[in-house]
Amino acid sequence: MTAASTHAPVEDRDRAAGIRRRLLGWYDSYRRDLPWRRTRDPYLIWVAEVMLVQTQVDTVIPYYERFVARFPNVESLAAAGLDAVLKAWEGLGYYARARHLHAAAQLVVERHGGQLPTDSAELQALPGIGPYMTAAIQSIAFGYPALALDGNVRRALSRLYDLPDPKPAELRARGETLVQERPGDVNQALMDLGSGLCTPRAPRCADCPLDALCLARMRGTVAERPGRRPARKRPHYDIAVGVVWRGDEILIAKRRPEGLLGGLWEFPGGKAEPGETMEAAVVREVAEELDVEVEPGEKIASVDHAYSHFEITMHAFHCRYRAGTPKPLGCQEYAWVKPTELDRYAFPAANRAVLSRLTRI
Ligand code: ADE
Repeated sequence: MTAASTHAPVEDRDRAAGIRRRLLGWYDSYRRDLPWRRTRDPYLIWVAEVMLVQTQVDTVIPYYERFVARFPNVESLAAAGLDAVLKAWEGLGYYARARHLHAAAQLVVERHGGQLPTDSAELQALPGIGPYMTAAIQSIAFGYPALALDGNVRRALSRLYDLPDPKPAELRARGETLVQERPGDVNQALMDLGSGLCTPRAPRCADCPLDALCLARMRGTVAERPGRRPARKRPHYDIAVGVVWRGDEILIAKRRPEGLLGGLWEFPGGKAEPGETMEAAVVREVAEELDVEVEPGEKIASVDHAYSHFEITMHAFHCRYRAGTPKPLGCQEYAWVKPTELDRYAFPAANRAVLSRLTRI
C-alpha cells in the first residue's frame, strides 16, 4: 500500500475503486491489441514507451516492430553503433530519444548486468528516463503502483475530477488512488481513454466507461477541462542547403552528436540571414560548415517542416563544387557519396523530402 491509498478518505477510496472497476472492465473488453502489450519483457516495454513519447500509436507500430526485430534485447542495442540505431529511428523524429536509449542500453549492460533496474532513482539515472518513463516502466513491466502521467492522462483526470488547472501533484494524488491494483493496465486504460474517447475536442462521453462518474460531465465543464494553455506561435526559419556535386558524388555532412538532430546526416547548409538570398546563404553556410567553395545552380525544391518549437522551409539547390578540401568545421564528419548509397545514411525528414525529389530527376 502506498501513502495515497492508506491516507485517502474512505469515500475517495470507494470512488477510486468504482472508477478502477469500470476502467479495467472497459480495458479488458476494448483494449487495443498493440505489439508491446503482448510482452512482459521490460526492455521491449521500455523501447515502446520511448517511441510513444510525442508520437501516435499508429506511427509507432511499424517502427517498433522493425526496431525490436533488429535489436531484440538490451545487449544487441548496446553493441550496435549509433549510426545503425539512428537509421532504424529515421523518420520517427525527436532523435535525442534514440541517442539516449542507445546510451542507456550501454549503461544497463555495464552497470546492471543487462537487466533494466526496477528502482525509481536507478531508472532516472539513465539517459532519457524521466518521471513519466519511470512510472510507465515500473507499472507496466514490474507491476508497481506508479501513475504514468502524460498529456492524455492529464486531460482525462482533469475531467474526471473536474479540476480547472491542476498541478501535477494534485493529479498525481488523485491518480495514484487508481493504480493500487493492476497498475500497468490502469495506466494503459487511461492512455487509451485519453487518446481515443476523452479527446481535446469532441470527446465521446456517451461511449466512456466513466461517464456516470465524471464530475466535469455532471457539471457540464468537459469542454473547459483542463484549462487551455495558450498556444505559442512557433518561429519560422528559412534554411538554405546545397546538394553539392563533384562528378557523380554528393557531399553530405554528419551533425555533431549533441543537440537537435545530433548524429544524423544532412545536406550542408543553414539558416539564411535576414535579407540574404537563398543562393548567397548556401554559399556562405557551406563554406562555414565545410570550408568548401560552391556555386549554386538549379533549385531542387522548397520543403516545409514543423519541429516541436519552430518551423522551417528548406530551400535546396544543386551546387557545383569549385574548390577546397572539405574540413568538418561545423559538423562531425563528411562524406562524398553516390546517390544510390544515400539510403544507408539516416537523414532528417526535410532532407529526405529533398532526396526524394533528387532521385526522381
Ligand atoms: N502511449 C504511451 N504509452 C502507451 C501505451 N503503453 N499504450 C498506448 N499508448 C501509449
